[in-house]
Amino acid sequence: MKCKITNKPIQPFINFGKMPIANGFIEEKNFSKEFFFNMEVGFNDDLSLVQLNDHPKPEKMFNENYPFFTGSSEYMKTHFKKYANFVKKYIKSNSKIIEIGSNDGTFLKNFNGQSNKVLGFEPSKNVADVSIKNGIPTLNSFFNKKNVANLKEYLGQTDLICASNVICHVPDLNNLIEAVDLLLSASGTFIFEEPYLGSMFQKVSYDQIYDEHIFMFSASSVSKIFQRFDLKLIDAIPQDTHGGSMRYIIKRNNNEINQNIKKIINFEEKEKINSLESCLKFKRDCELSKEKILKKIKLLKNTGKTICGYAATSKSTTVLNYCNIGSKEIDFICDTTKEKIGKFSPGMHIPIKDMDYFHRNITDCIYLFAWNHKNEILNKEKKFKGEWFSHVEL
Ligand code: TYD
Repeated sequence: MKCKITNKPIQPFINFGKMPIANGFIEEKNFSKEFFFNMEVGFNDDLSLVQLNDHPKPEKMFNENYPFFTGSSEYMKTHFKKYANFVKKYIKSNSKIIEIGSNDGTFLKNFNGQSNKVLGFEPSKNVADVSIKNGIPTLNSFFNKKNVANLKEYLGQTDLICASNVICHVPDLNNLIEAVDLLLSASGTFIFEEPYLGSMFQKVSYDQIYDEHIFMFSASSVSKIFQRFDLKLIDAIPQDTHGGSMRYIIKRNNNEINQNIKKIINFEEKEKINSLESCLKFKRDCELSKEKILKKIKLLKNTGKTICGYAATSKSTTVLNYCNIGSKEIDFICDTTKEKIGKFSPGMHIPIKDMDYFHRNITDCIYLFAWNHKNEILNKEKKFKGEWFSHVEL
């Protein structure tokens, strides 16, 4: 499946090779049937956009087995509480609010008991079920023009549409933005946050790239994309989630933009964040990062050290497969998600164990795959006196 928002060809600049589904934690009996795709990333000059050239069908990733739950991190729960407080300035007491990719309802739960009418769209059934159980009205479907067309009471009457770490997942951005346009009221606001291209370049956190993350946005690309739909990026606010994200605030074209946008776009131009040149530098940085982490692991193994991975993140699938790190190097990966425990990591087949196993089988060193949750995790695991390491600086 090709990603298309313009007809102009995308310039490929890095190929991470054969990749499995990042969240495709797998049972041993299914190893021989595992799905792989070629993960190549390109630069779209027209929109200053970094994107996957090809990716699996969304139904392959977001289905009844999706193992990611927003509520698995205390830090993220607090973040979503603050996010909900932030968006309140864009709504009235009886406003209608929609969240795209509402996951287990962690964000919308913050509106419980208020007079606003909320609705979540969540295509992964198991996750949508948790949200419904939490009392959040949730549609178990993809957010697109077809699926919003029947929501008569929301069409042109929705004051706020929110999304977090979701818009970069949607291959047909044109359709998504048209659906937003159908729903938004005249003074309505669309707010979304996504991992930020500038942070990925700076940290060389190439593990932000996997099947679900089709686009890597910047303020410049978001501004250019929405302009095509007569919508305007009026503000952008950096966030420290997911190792560096950006919150984008979009309104109809008759609104004024905040001075902040100009500053951020100037910064992106100055730093050449939206250029093929930076993409090529990033490619070299990824290759160096791979060399460095392999050297580090080899040294640890040569000195008899045992290693486990902490948190079976989607991100880790990119690192493990790109660097060809498997169970010879890493004994197991511990994680709190019951849907992952007892299975094996996608592609490299490292066993996933629960936290109890981790505490009973402490290794000499830990590869922290959820480096973005470093503070929360190191705080929980103060008793571990060995070495924490990762491919990004901790
Ligand atoms: P995250 O970085 O949000 O993952 P992704 O790369 O998939 O977006 O981390 C979520 C995963 O990390 C999830 O599998 C749960 C696991 N995790 C732990 O096991 N323990 C923890 O303390 C935290 C914060 C996460």
